[in-house]
Amino acid sequence: MVERRPRRRPAGSEPDPPGTPTRRAALRLLDAVLRRGDPLDLAAHAATQGLAPADRAFAVAIASETLRWITDIDALIDSATAQILPDDVKSRAVLRIALAQLLALGSPAHAVVATALPLVAGGPRRLVHAILSRAQQDEWKLPERATLPLATAERWAEQWGLATLEAAEAGWSAPPPIDLSFAGDPVAAEWTDAVALAPRHLRLPRGQAVEAMPGFREGGWWVQDLAASLPARLLGDGGGRSVLDLCAAPGGKTMQLAAAGWAVVAVDSSAKRLDRLTDNMTRTGLAADVVQADIRSWEPAAPADAVLLDAPCSATGIFRRHPDVLHRIEAREIAELAALQTELLARAARWVKPGGALIYATCSLERAEGEDQVATFLTRNPAWRVDAVRADELPAAIAPDASGFVRTLPGVLGDAGGLDGFFIARLRAPAG
Ligand SMILES: C[S@@+](CC[C@H](N)C(=O)[O-])C[C@H]1O[C@@H](n2cnc3c(N)ncnc32)[C@H](O)[C@@H]1O
Repeated sequence: MVERRPRRRPAGSEPDPPGTPTRRAALRLLDAVLRRGDPLDLAAHAATQGLAPADRAFAVAIASETLRWITDIDALIDSATAQILPDDVKSRAVLRIALAQLLALGSPAHAVVATALPLVAGGPRRLVHAILSRAQQDEWKLPERATLPLATAERWAEQWGLATLEAAEAGWSAPPPIDLSFAGDPVAAEWTDAVALAPRHLRLPRGQAVEAMPGFREGGWWVQDLAASLPARLLGDGGGRSVLDLCAAPGGKTMQLAAAGWAVVAVDSSAKRLDRLTDNMTRTGLAADVVQADIRSWEPAAPADAVLLDAPCSATGIFRRHPDVLHRIEAREIAELAALQTELLARAARWVKPGGALIYATCSLERAEGEDQVATFLTRNPAWRVDAVRADELPAAIAPDASGFVRTLPGVLGDAGGLDGFFIARLRAPAG
């Protein structure tokens, strides 16, 4: 009988180790953000198709941590190569996601290396292998604070100073805690590891599955950064009065306003985001009239007692949760969004009853989208005034600025987990 020897596979044709498709998805995500400028959460659906939910979440986590630490990871890569690898070569991308797993996510080295090498098939596998071995031998570590992209660091240092820049780097170095807003008062006994920083608010350590928290199905609360909850808080209780919630989806502020007794008309131009708003209202059992419209052309049936404009913005204030933002947003986008905000603020003001309040808010750390907008508005509408926010309307440790605005900067509540960066102004319409 002739003995048949197992046939050898040609080199490089071995099946990929388990977990490789997840890393391929992470590479696609990184490319979508860095090359195409797509938001990470929008790119995630297409980039992770075919993966199990846990693998999808891991691919997003790898991409997020790579984007958070990319400057520091690149410095490590460059310290180990004789010639600097170009920015856009596959080997650098593979090394970036591998080192993010190893150094930021604490993944086991053997899994990181085994899943990295197939990604550079046909390319410099030896170089990638050598750098990942060196990372382990030399016990590479990331610095304490993740370095911000240069353009952002320059912009923020100029606007807010070096101390705030350092606080931003500290805040950028880890995903933030989870804030919940409640429709009523939370039952303290159900939330033993939570801290209340404001009424109807609890802060929990990060890393918990939201759906598994007490009362998720019953809908008594929703996830909302404490800073994002401040604009609606500044309108107080509604007592049945009318409010236009402009740019409302996915509805964090709509839920707050409805829970505080306002009769809410929630307007947003995005059908998809309004679906999420409707789901949120259904889950929490709260009510609002929902309108899909572009507020540049829409008109309400009647003016309202109050208007809240949560304007579309660069979102640079939510950089801790969305590390892709600082890699996508440049001065040009900020200028374009600022022009849109000027237009939306002028329209929103027309729909406030005499003597009524107009809240203008953006989750941005750019003056062009905050202080400068209000200054332009007041110059063009001299009969309007700033209704200065008082310290007793805000959670302890958050103070209004000298103009009576709320500006949450990195560093505020730093020891308690920080806050998103927001600008909020309360403006008062002339009385009839
Ligand atoms: C900052 S988000 C709103 C977040 C929301 N207020 C919340 O608390 O959940 C901005 C929203 O503005 C909407 N938007 C952008 N341009 C708009 C326009 N011209 N008219 C109406 N909505 C617009 C976007 O679809 C987006 O949902």
